[in-house]
Amino acid sequence: MMQTEQVWAEPWKIKVVEHLRMTTQEERQAAIAEAGYNTFLLPSRQVYIDLLTDSGTTAMSDVQWAGLMRGDEAYAGSANFERFERTVREYYGYKHVIPTHQGRGAEHILSRLCIRPGDIVPGNMYFTTTKLHQELAGGTFEDVIVAEAHNPDSEFPFKGNVDLRKLEHLIARVGAEKIPYLSLETNVNMAGGQPCSLENIHATCDLCHRHGIPVYLDATRAVENCYFIEQRESGQSGRPLAEILREICDRTDGCTMSAKKDALVNIGGFLALNDDALAEQARNTVVIYEGLHTYGGMAGRDMEALAIGIEESVDWQHQHARVGQVQYLGQRLIEAGVPIVRPIGGHGIFINAVDFLPHIPREEFPAQALTAALYIDSGVRAMERGAVSVGRDAAGKNIYPSLELIRLTIPRRVYTQAHMDVVVDSVARLHRRAEQIGGLRFTYEPRYLRFFQARFEPCQGTSVLREL
Ligand code: F0G
Repeated sequence: MMQTEQVWAEPWKIKVVEHLRMTTQEERQAAIAEAGYNTFLLPSRQVYIDLLTDSGTTAMSDVQWAGLMRGDEAYAGSANFERFERTVREYYGYKHVIPTHQGRGAEHILSRLCIRPGDIVPGNMYFTTTKLHQELAGGTFEDVIVAEAHNPDSEFPFKGNVDLRKLEHLIARVGAEKIPYLSLETNVNMAGGQPCSLENIHATCDLCHRHGIPVYLDATRAVENCYFIEQRESGQSGRPLAEILREICDRTDGCTMSAKKDALVNIGGFLALNDDALAEQARNTVVIYEGLHTYGGMAGRDMEALAIGIEESVDWQHQHARVGQVQYLGQRLIEAGVPIVRPIGGHGIFINAVDFLPHIPREEFPAQALTAALYIDSGVRAMERGAVSVGRDAAGKNIYPSLELIRLTIPRRVYTQAHMDVVVDSVARLHRRAEQIGGLRFTYEPRYLRFFQARFEPCQGTSVLREL
């Protein structure tokens, strides 16, 4: 097996290219104003390098594209479902597999079936859609991640870990009967793509199971987490990623999965469960919201590509190059003096907007302003992951989380090192002229998941990036 010290290269070559469109700064200035300074509202034809998300943005392999031709588009009992179900059972190990159109479809069903009004759902940091589905079902999310996760400068190697003391106190305070399950996210997205250790996963499952509390994995980036376990955890070096994945899944009671990340497809997801009765309810619920229990919102061809994607995702060389590209970008930004969350995570680089833009008060959303300025400077599209993403508390007040970040998310197998260099160049340039970036205020704020559709205007002047 190749060692990390060695130079890495992508374990693939390019067969098809998609042309990128270059724009002028004037065009981008107009486009972002038209988009209400929200990068989610930009048309993709106005974007040069798209680092909005690693979700559904993967380049599929030739084998996956060939798999599309084998789509069995029967309404019921598609052959592709059989292969997909078999593959999930083999790699993730759960007994029942319920297909959904994407991750939030699985979260919806799990939350709806398990959470009662007044319940508390602990998790290792929130994810936007996960938390909202818990709340819509009448629950309240409770963060039990380790304190290091909230500190962008802590070099702790497993910032995704559950704080067992916090979890124990929560169980003692509210009682196990008020906790329908613990939601355990692997390679925690909002913390910066930070892994959980195998040891912590075991300890968390032990604690929960002792109290009769099931543990459901958010397996969206579980394989990336396995790569970090293989690299960082003592005794795990050289272990096949598929073996580590099975060890994690075997300890937990089921998972929700957005297959648009690890599993290398553009759409798809699933809910997997071991409990027969719960699975039966889930199969009955999926037909209301997603589709029949043998397609759940996916076409037959999507399920075929997903099954192949799962097999490709556990390849060590693939993860080494995928995470390696993220590390390359992060390392170069660190060298340029840009404040980013450390250690460098698995799916993207998270810039600390509070340190980058110390002159912008939190009420003027520095991370949102930085995504807009970056787009104006170079056409690179990033995503806000700070106060706008968190939203408001029950009393209607804005929450200001300790992490006010912008995420440069790297799609899998899509961009080259040279693209990463363009990104570094632009971010470093903005860092040097940070005082020219101004804050934003809301002009429209939707009720749910506001970051997707909110609109803003500059607090001062006519642009978020002054003196162009
Ligand atoms: N869980 C995690 C950890 C996620 O990152 C996402 C999506 C979901 C659940 C929901 O899955 O989008 O398929 O419905 N994350 C995307 C992102 C949107 O950009 O981070 P979905």
